[in-house]
Amino acid sequence: MWGGRFSGGPSAVMREINASIPFDKRLWRQDIRASKVHVAMLAAQGIVSEEDAATIREGLGRIAAEYEADGVPENFDLEDIHMTVEARLTELIGPVAGRLHTARSRNDQVATDFRLWVREACEEMEAGLAAFQRALLARAEEHTDTVMPGFTHLQAAQPVTLGHHMMAYYEMAKRDRSRFADARARAAECPLGSAALAGTSFDLDRDRTAGELGFAHPTANSLDAVSDRDFALDYLMAATTASLHLSRLAEEFVIWASQPFGFVKLSDAYSTGSSIMPQKRNPDAAELVRGHAGRIAGCMQALVMVMKGLPLAYAKDTQDDKPPVFEAHDLLALSIAAMTGMVETSDFRRERMRDLAAGGHSTATDFADWLVRAIGLPFREAHHLTGAAVKLAEEKGCDISELDDASLRGLDPRLAEAQLPDLSVEGSVASRMSYGGTAPARVREAIARARKELDQ
Ligand code: ARG
Repeated sequence: MWGGRFSGGPSAVMREINASIPFDKRLWRQDIRASKVHVAMLAAQGIVSEEDAATIREGLGRIAAEYEADGVPENFDLEDIHMTVEARLTELIGPVAGRLHTARSRNDQVATDFRLWVREACEEMEAGLAAFQRALLARAEEHTDTVMPGFTHLQAAQPVTLGHHMMAYYEMAKRDRSRFADARARAAECPLGSAALAGTSFDLDRDRTAGELGFAHPTANSLDAVSDRDFALDYLMAATTASLHLSRLAEEFVIWASQPFGFVKLSDAYSTGSSIMPQKRNPDAAELVRGHAGRIAGCMQALVMVMKGLPLAYAKDTQDDKPPVFEAHDLLALSIAAMTGMVETSDFRRERMRDLAAGGHSTATDFADWLVRAIGLPFREAHHLTGAAVKLAEEKGCDISELDDASLRGLDPRLAEAQLPDLSVEGSVASRMSYGGTAPARVREAIARARKELDQ
């Protein structure tokens, strides 16, 4: 297609390094759609005849049907999806096919195709994350009153509820969705009509093209339009953050499913066995989600490095934008589905979680808070006195919540008359009524707000 000035052909290595068809064939739907819109616009502007445009559109429709049925052929000589489609079009309709490439270049073509693809990918991720949120909500509703240990430093800190814990991930997924929505909105500019780099001498209607392809408007600068890959970076950065969140939940499932914790039994559907140890039930899916997060972050880094220092306008380096985006997309789609499935099907062990929540003097802060509220001690002094209570409990080999009244009163003369506090884990979580806190009443409110958000 570009051989007019060449006498020798490319070497085998040149053909291979140049070919993007093995991966960019994934853009075939976007490529054909954009070509149909482009040629219709050319006809409306009187740049090609209506008859030729109709022939071209009809030919493109036949190619789409072929690819749908048999996939896209991979011929390195045709380099990429754009030339593959055009070559087939020429076979089908003859030299008229040559009019399709009027007033466009593969540079604005690929930028347009890829934007279309990435915008759809954002929508897909938003939908996947919404399903994940629904799964979290359902489990949160079921476990609003289920007490579990809350950790800091992975040390038992204060009791929380499993419902509250699930809703923490709901919030992360909410931000992730908004990042994909932002990326999609920012990518709503259509490069087609920028041509190779400088714009074109033909009188195009770029607003029409942009509108028919679902973009908000055409890009404003042709040099920027053909070389910009921010939209792909935005996508990869949103994907990276989402995958980090999923990897944190995955890690928690790995920990929770371990025997020393025993908080959860993963369903058969999301566990694997060992070929040598018959008793094993391994959380492989969770571990893979944890691993995938590393690969997705790597994809993001790969495109950052490809783009670094590229001069304007188009450079072939940007052909390397697609593999990391496709890879991250596939990994993230699987990760979201796997975590959704795990959340939906896992069997949480209420008793075990409650037992562990009640250990480790987890309601010591409740005692300190009580000393402030009921006895009027400054918090620092209350903290100190509670430390003495924990020490006493340790000497007696019990939990602070198990100290008898006499032992507590013996800590300080000011406790002699007081009505002693409820140091149970249920009392503790119920008291955490601050906005955003773990009290079941608060979590129920958070769930109700979330339901509304999801139904909007
Ligand atoms: N396959 C190329 C890419 O993905 C299409 C653009 C080719 N442009 C060019 N000037 N060779 O970037």
